[in-house]
Amino acid sequence: MHQNAAKKRFVVVSNRLPISIARDRNGGLIASQGAGGLVTALAPVLKNRGGIWLGWPGTSEEGVMDMCRSFSREAGYILWPVALSDADVEGFYRGFSNEILWPLFHEFQTPCNFLPEYWAAYRAANLKFAQATATMALEEDFIWVHDYHLMLVASMLKELGKTSRVGFFLHIPFPPADIFLKIPWRRQLLEALLEYDLIGFQTLRDMRNFIESVKRVYPSAVRKGRGQVTTLTANGRSPRIGSFPIGIDYHAFAKAAGQPERAKAARDIRAAFGDRFLLFGADRLDYTKGVPQRLDALRVALERYPELRGRICLIQVLVPSREEVPQYRAMKEEIERMVGEINGRYSMPGWAPVHFTYRNLPREELIGYYLAADMALVTPLRDGMNLVAKEYAACNISGTGILCLSEFAGAAMELHRHAVMVNPFDVDGIAAAIRDGVLMDLGQRRRRMRAIRSILRRYDIFWWVDAFLQAAFSKHLEDFPPREEGYWEALEARQGPPWPTASGS
Ligand code: G6P
Repeated sequence: MHQNAAKKRFVVVSNRLPISIARDRNGGLIASQGAGGLVTALAPVLKNRGGIWLGWPGTSEEGVMDMCRSFSREAGYILWPVALSDADVEGFYRGFSNEILWPLFHEFQTPCNFLPEYWAAYRAANLKFAQATATMALEEDFIWVHDYHLMLVASMLKELGKTSRVGFFLHIPFPPADIFLKIPWRRQLLEALLEYDLIGFQTLRDMRNFIESVKRVYPSAVRKGRGQVTTLTANGRSPRIGSFPIGIDYHAFAKAAGQPERAKAARDIRAAFGDRFLLFGADRLDYTKGVPQRLDALRVALERYPELRGRICLIQVLVPSREEVPQYRAMKEEIERMVGEINGRYSMPGWAPVHFTYRNLPREELIGYYLAADMALVTPLRDGMNLVAKEYAACNISGTGILCLSEFAGAAMELHRHAVMVNPFDVDGIAAAIRDGVLMDLGQRRRRMRAIRSILRRYDIFWWVDAFLQAAFSKHLEDFPPREEGYWEALEARQGPPWPTASGS
């Protein structure tokens, strides 16, 4: 047995695997690594120690297991698909996760559909994730579970007899107690969360909201210590809780933005818009992102400040998402209607105020827009962090871009002193911010952007992983050194199941 394989490994569990699977031209399945910050940060750690990432591949097509296997070889760590039935996808993913937890945690209570069968499906699917994790992980491994889909995994792992250390990070906000407590399964959710060894939140505000909810359900709960990471004792458990604002791979973005092809793309975009003042928005289709309010603000700005007509353009990119949920389809239609209305009302020969794109943009293309934009409008009604805000600034190598940021994005906690802050519900306020942006002198633009970029450079995605590992498992990123040559070959050459299992490694 290869020596390194016996050391503690890193096991990541998230609803989605970090690959996207699609059909190629010949009808075969192909996999490619997801481009998110989480994958970028965790892949080297998983690779170096021979780790595992478990998640739902997003499809139940045949051949997924083989694809994961061959992609694992390429990635250098094991991708283990957790199979979900159509009923699981319906009740756990579309139902409990997208119709209850997503709206409730973003403080939208009206769309919540508290169906008891969704709760049963959530439990059943969390058990599938826990069972797969229990089979794949060794006792001494570190298990890191991600996001609202999987809040029950630690408690279920314990029921399955696992005693490994398990950390949890919530990527979305944790709502104020008065909102959280509306969920009929509040006690079960809190009890399950308290089974983690570390519960990580994006901001101190989320962490405080969680503590408040725990105290309301368990009045004798006690918090020990102040600051970013503390201990909370409740229901016979004492997990650590902490706030770890997620960052991005700052240097990778800045480097990509510095490539001559990107500079050319940005010049072409600017030329196509006749060097007007370019506003830019890029959002996943979601009612939390505040796109209708943003469009309304543009309309108000054009109405109230006629000097802006013909002078500004909003490039709005909307990335398709969760289209199977009726509310998302309705939101797309509303946005299209608003874009049509604004363009219909204000366009002049050679100028339309809104340029709208509804598709998945490859990262390179997105960076071209980031570079070309004078001002990014990042105005979610509520957001765990919002990485578009951070990516825009990291790519802004000229240092003259303006970040207009919602008070209710997690990123506001770090950037509020230097971004142009807006209340995303206040369309007059956003309209005024647009006008102020057009008028802002270069000196101020530079000062603000420099300060934002220096925060992002320091607190990047690697800082985030390191801070979490340190708090959860007393480990640093550097504690996961490159594994020895031949590790993978040794793994593959073994008899029996090709990949390690709890009994086999
Ligand atoms: C948010 C969540 C992620 C989720 C993503 C896309 O960023 O925090 O966990 O994966 O949205 O949503 P989807 O429902 O397509 O996975």
